[in-house]
Amino acid sequence: MRREQVVFLMRKTGDVEMMDETEMKKLIEAAVAARGRSYSPYSGYAVGASLMAEDGTIYAGCNVENAAYPLGFCAEANAIGNMIAAGGRQIVHVVVTGPGTDICTPCGGCRQQIREFASSLEMPVTICDADGAIQLETSIGALLPNSFGPENLNNAETA
Ligand code: THU
Repeated sequence: MRREQVVFLMRKTGDVEMMDETEMKKLIEAAVAARGRSYSPYSGYAVGASLMAEDGTIYAGCNVENAAYPLGFCAEANAIGNMIAAGGRQIVHVVVTGPGTDICTPCGGCRQQIREFASSLEMPVTICDADGAIQLETSIGALLPNSFGPENLNNAETA
């Protein structure tokens, strides 16, 4: 699906206010720049992620690996950590950029982490190649269907 079509669909549902092209470019550039600073000597797979928060601030992160392999962090998780530490709470758009021709969609754990702070299930997730060219436009709800989130806990009756 082309970006214009996605924008149209989102406008039609009225769920998401799409950002303009200039903002989108800035968001993609932030992810590409963060990817350039990735510490991924073990996998050789550099990932960059950027988030736009509800006030328009952009936060970015890259994957940070460790000689003790399981301790590595994904790019998305680090971008979220940066947003939270700076006081942001809601994500309105995510960009992920990875190497090669296969798209670098967020891993399962990152999908759940993004979902925690997503402004809605329609919140857009844009996947780009290493140069920032858009490969896929999707949403957190599509990436993580029937997801569990904070509302589940709020609506639970205590036993
Ligand atoms: N990686 C991310 O940073 N984000 C993802 O969503 C997929 C995987 C990183 C983790 C690890 O450093 C490398 O990519 C290979 O899995």
